[in-house]
Amino acid sequence: MKLLRPAPPRPGRNGPNGPNGPPGTTKPGLKETAVEGTAGVVGWLDERTGTSSFLRYFLYRKVPKGTNWFYTLGTATLFAFLSQAVTGVFLAMYYVPDATRAYESASHITNEVFLGEFVRAMHKWGATVMIILIFCHMARVFFFGAYKYPRELNWVIGVVLLVLVLMMGLTGYLLPFDQRSFWATVVAVNINASGPLVGPYLADFLRAGAEFGPTTIPRFYALHMLLIPGLIIALIGAHLYLVVKLGTTAPPWLKAEKKDLLREEV
Ligand code: HEM
Repeated sequence: MKLLRPAPPRPGRNGPNGPNGPPGTTKPGLKETAVEGTAGVVGWLDERTGTSSFLRYFLYRKVPKGTNWFYTLGTATLFAFLSQAVTGVFLAMYYVPDATRAYESASHITNEVFLGEFVRAMHKWGATVMIILIFCHMARVFFFGAYKYPRELNWVIGVVLLVLVLMMGLTGYLLPFDQRSFWATVVAVNINASGPLVGPYLADFLRAGAEFGPTTIPRFYALHMLLIPGLIIALIGAHLYLVVKLGTTAPPWLKAEKKDLLREEV
């Protein structure tokens, strides 16, 4: 091994600047300058924000023994949401939330916009995937008993997230404004209207009036684009904060083993 190592340059001889040049004063190349520059910027930001200590805490935190693939369902839901957000932004660039132009603009996206059909399909199927994933994640939490003390609040936040995600589905369904989306939404809003006490008010709020009219689409669009996603982002933030703060629960079979162990000790 020793033979493979190159001999260190002697001062004043064989230095990087030639046989008799001063050692180590070579001009840094473009790559070194870029690396140094980036490190400088990252260091500057880190000193002022403490990002690296947060990331170290966040990424290297301990997870319980027995953590398995079922624990990825929450993150999978998160990625489905991010995909919905990105594709939604592109759709919003072309969609017109106006009762007379909504259908036309949706067909324009499918038939004329570059990759429009692909992005629309991603958004449509992504919605279904997200709802399937959120239920699977909820089932994992339920069957692993991860809703128990001290994680009850995270369960409650999760339930609100579930309702909001379902509301995204409802408000998004009207937007293509074809026969199916229109009549399906009429039925859904009528079901809402039949709810006790708040039902009729909720239906009026959704329709932006007593009947479906020109202001209904802008109402659904604003809810679908701004209010509900804003709430979802804020609640996902709180949800993940609690996950990091409290850690994840060990699988129930490990907890059961521990209980048996305790019984033996007593
Ligand atoms: C937008 C929807 C949601 C997202 C993005 C999300 C994300 C996550 C992530 C990334 C985790 C940590 C990893 C894991 O355990 O899978 C987690 C944990 C958790 N989630 Fe969700 N979640 C969502 C909805 C829900 C729902 C609907 C519920 C229940 C009603 C729920 C209850 C919980 C609980 C109690 C934990 C802690 C699990 C533990 O400590 O083992 N979440 N969530």
